Amino acid sequence: MIDHPIPYGHQYITDEDVEAVVEALRSENLTQGPRIAEFEREFSARMGCRYTSMLSNGTAALRLCAAALDIGEGDKVITTPITFVATANAFRFPNAEIVFCDIDPRTYLMDLDKLEEILKASPKGTYKAVVPVDFAGYPIDEERLRALADEYGFSVVIDACHAPGASFTDSKGKVHKVGSCDYSDFTCFSFHPVKHIATGEGGAVTLNDPDLYRRAMLYRTHGITKDPAMMTRNDGGWYYEMLDLGFNYRITDMQAALGISQLKRLDWSLARRAEIAARYDEAFKGTAVRTPWRGEGIVHAFHLYVIQVERRKELYDFLRTQNIFAQVLYIPVHLMPYYRQFGWKEGDMPVAEEYYRHCLALPMFPTLTDEEQDWVIEKVLEFVR
Ligand SMILES: Cc1ncc(COP(=O)(O)O)c(C=O)c1O
Repeated sequence: MIDHPIPYGHQYITDEDVEAVVEALRSENLTQGPRIAEFEREFSARMGCRYTSMLSNGTAALRLCAAALDIGEGDKVITTPITFVATANAFRFPNAEIVFCDIDPRTYLMDLDKLEEILKASPKGTYKAVVPVDFAGYPIDEERLRALADEYGFSVVIDACHAPGASFTDSKGKVHKVGSCDYSDFTCFSFHPVKHIATGEGGAVTLNDPDLYRRAMLYRTHGITKDPAMMTRNDGGWYYEMLDLGFNYRITDMQAALGISQLKRLDWSLARRAEIAARYDEAFKGTAVRTPWRGEGIVHAFHLYVIQVERRKELYDFLRTQNIFAQVLYIPVHLMPYYRQFGWKEGDMPVAEEYYRHCLALPMFPTLTDEEQDWVIEKVLEFVR
């Protein structure tokens, strides 16, 4: 019997993390200091991209992409219904029309065949951006997405809030890290506590294009620049110019210090998550529990371990009586009252809706002990049998 609550996800904070934050607190800069650039350099090196902009959260990262791509009223953006509402909202804020594309029944990611059908049904250039989500840590086929983007003329923004450290293999056998932006325009990450890297609140966007990077950096701080090459004049050392309407999406130095320290453990976290996933896979083999799909050439980041079961609500309620706080992720976004006002309704995304009826994310975080996991497995099996 496990006598303490087991959550579905949890942060892991070490003494080194605490010391790093304390050091930042005692330093000259609480924000806009050197730790932010250091976190950006380290993150770019790990993800394999040219630029990273560290931000206040993952939603800000997505919203910044919309701003840098000049998305606004009348533009159409395609995303998936199986995500946190932030993905759609970030593009809805500037009044873009959000179009949902149903998911693949195996991976639960945006179905690229269905995406192609949507694209084919309208003239090229109808959609300004496509924003798939590497749901649960499973990377989308970015190579195919890039081919579609080149044919139909849209920008690719990957919501990889679940997937730092994931990778996929292209048709030539080359491995690409999620976040490298080898095929995408932007990749977005979140450092919310349940994620692989926890900074309390925090996020990042990675990219390779210098112009988009300049724009992203501009929007991070009120649309303000001090770069003489971008200014219309220069009155002196104090002088800056506001070139466009921007935001304050900055991360603090305390958060960056925590992020640098946490990033050092990303590979350990991924390895431990893979171990936990393999134990679940093995335990549920041959039972009524449907386990996550494993694609070829994929490194799954396992932010979540989502099963599909009958009588999901009963299992969710039963597990809670056993101290197991499994979670339902996600309620399809197109069925949120806000999005229903645009005409979205039940039946529009049949695969996503079927997924939602049966999904349950079991506890998955690197410090989950074997004993705790065995308890979860025992109780799930007790229920399904
Ligand atoms: C898929 C996805 N996109 C976007 C976000 C938003 O990130 P944040 O909470 O850091 O704003 C999250 C985090 O909850 C997420 O899971």
